[in-house]
Amino acid sequence: MKSDIEHILFTAEQIKARNLEIAEEIDAFYTHRKKEILLITLLDGAIVFTADLIRSLSVPLRLDCLRVSSYGDSTNPETAPRILGTLKSEVKNKHVLLVDDILDTGNTMSRVYEEVVSKEPSSIKTCVFLDKPDRRQVDFHADWFGFSIPDEFVVGYGLDYAGRYRQLPYLATLKPAVYSQNLS
Ligand code: PRP
Repeated sequence: MKSDIEHILFTAEQIKARNLEIAEEIDAFYTHRKKEILLITLLDGAIVFTADLIRSLSVPLRLDCLRVSSYGDSTNPETAPRILGTLKSEVKNKHVLLVDDILDTGNTMSRVYEEVVSKEPSSIKTCVFLDKPDRRQVDFHADWFGFSIPDEFVVGYGLDYAGRYRQLPYLATLKPAVYSQNLS
């Protein structure tokens, strides 16, 4: 797998340091207001970021998951985001923090945001590991983000290409040759 990597954008150490900074900001925001969070993470991509982030947070939280998918095995969205499944938690009157790995076109986050708002939470905030503003199709800004990146396809730290590379502890680009291989 390492031989498929072209360039490492952020090392595991850089990611860890940045996550601690975000966690401090989130803690400060909610602790100050004496709030418990209902943290809703968007599977599958956000699983690694979420696992690290929640272990750095001191504010009380409960965790719920939503599976959303639109990219299939390609590097561009194939369908409008589909919410696959339901939350197990009651959202009404909760302080919701939506967590995702990447804010790209913004379609996924805005779709989920709309869905959660319809359930009447007390508040709703968003946190993403990566922000890719050049690709935005809808006007959406995350309240917290780890890193802003240019418009290049990245893998690792939860992000995949054709379902693979999510386990890499760093964020990287793939060699162009990988995209022409048959990965099925
Ligand atoms: C990816 C990623 C985000 C979404 C962002 O999900 O995890 O949820 O795309 O893209 P957008 O801002 O253009 O909507 P994907 O559909 O690839 O599923 P995954 O989480 O299982 O990787």
